Amino acid sequence: MSNVAVIGSQWGDEGKGKIVDWLSEKADVIVRFQGGHNAGHTLVVNNITYKLKLLPSGIVRKNKISIIGNGVVIDPWALLDEIKHLKKLGVKITNKNLYIAENATLILPPHKELDGIREDTKNTDKIGTTRRGIGPAYEDKVGRRAIRVMDLANKKSLSKRIDIMIHHHNSIRKSLGKSSIDKKKLIKDLIKISSKILKYSKPVWKKLEEFKKKKKVILFEGAQGMLLDVDHGTYPFVTSSNTIAGAASSGAGCGPKTINYVLGIVKAYTTRVGEGPFPTELKNEIGNKIGRRGKEFGTVTNRKRRCGWFDAVLVKQTCIISGVDGIALTKIDVLDELKDLHVCVAYHLDGKKIDYFPNSLHDQIRVKPIYKKFNGWLKNTKGIKKWKELPINAQKYINFIKNYCGVKISSISTSPRREDTILLENPFKKN
Ligand code: IMP
Repeated sequence: MSNVAVIGSQWGDEGKGKIVDWLSEKADVIVRFQGGHNAGHTLVVNNITYKLKLLPSGIVRKNKISIIGNGVVIDPWALLDEIKHLKKLGVKITNKNLYIAENATLILPPHKELDGIREDTKNTDKIGTTRRGIGPAYEDKVGRRAIRVMDLANKKSLSKRIDIMIHHHNSIRKSLGKSSIDKKKLIKDLIKISSKILKYSKPVWKKLEEFKKKKKVILFEGAQGMLLDVDHGTYPFVTSSNTIAGAASSGAGCGPKTINYVLGIVKAYTTRVGEGPFPTELKNEIGNKIGRRGKEFGTVTNRKRRCGWFDAVLVKQTCIISGVDGIALTKIDVLDELKDLHVCVAYHLDGKKIDYFPNSLHDQIRVKPIYKKFNGWLKNTKGIKKWKELPINAQKYINFIKNYCGVKISSISTSPRREDTILLENPFKKN
């Protein structure tokens, strides 16, 4: 059986929850490797709806190991709340089924506060973040002043680490007219919860090696989407982590060859939340219709998602950068009532035709999509489970995506229900 990395291939919200749920049932170990509680995965298992933010999807299933890798930023209070909430729903969470990398970075209240202050400051470019403190925590990580899970184990060294962090933050806060951080309170609050977090803390890389030796099947669960990658996305309108498949190995602590199959989740149209370039955005009734049918509201912030036509140029690009082996196409049924469909196949930029999405923001906001038109199928596809039962025009649309991107279609999702899926290739059974 292969180890699989599952990655959103657009701007997030591709409908990963349902696919990850199916995959996590088959895996033994499920690992989150980047992002934090800015993610929102909804799972429906045995008619109970679970809304997960930070915990890997395996947590709601029995006999699975869930791992939060070093690449994740953890708000310890948000994590404890999530654990408490799930326990109330009957989910068993102990240090036998949840491991947290001891070298993962913590999100602390000053990070959250700074995220909010920046978003509210009118004279900078608003990113439209989730205001969870994700960006400021990653900044501290690469700035080598972060507090990590293992720092909670020793009050004396925690105090020293906090001094370094506070020194940096207080100068920023002073310039923003904000009060200094109350160090005593911060330490007291952290010490209060430290044992509750530390009990899950482990050298995760070592555990992963053990699992590999025992031939356990590992699922690497990506959050957000590849176009939000801090290097390859629509910078600066991105999240602060690497969301591409390559991040799974560094964010979990295993060699890149551990991943045998990269599954890219692709929505049959395009959406994004927050600010930033979006060449195929539909600011009209068609966009609203797609949004309504697709229930395009954020799971974390409840913001209305921007909707647009399928951008094949972008998806091909993300498939190449992440080495996607197969596409899980989602929400095809949302397009059932559209008479015509358009797919972006290239852009015009300064009078020239280009077949890729440029890196500069200046260009990203000026590209004009070149569309290929498709006839809609105007038939119900909801609940279809076999390829040959799909209307011919839907097959043409999907085949075009496959051929343009040069990637096999692994599955097609025809409703939010788990069983409403056309399975064409099982990622775990790749030779
Ligand atoms: P941050 O990750 O909170 O810093 O937000 C940065 C950008 O990523 C914003 O545009 C957010 O809307 C977007 N973002 C963060 N997490 C998600 C997600 O899980 N789905 C979709 N967009 C997200």
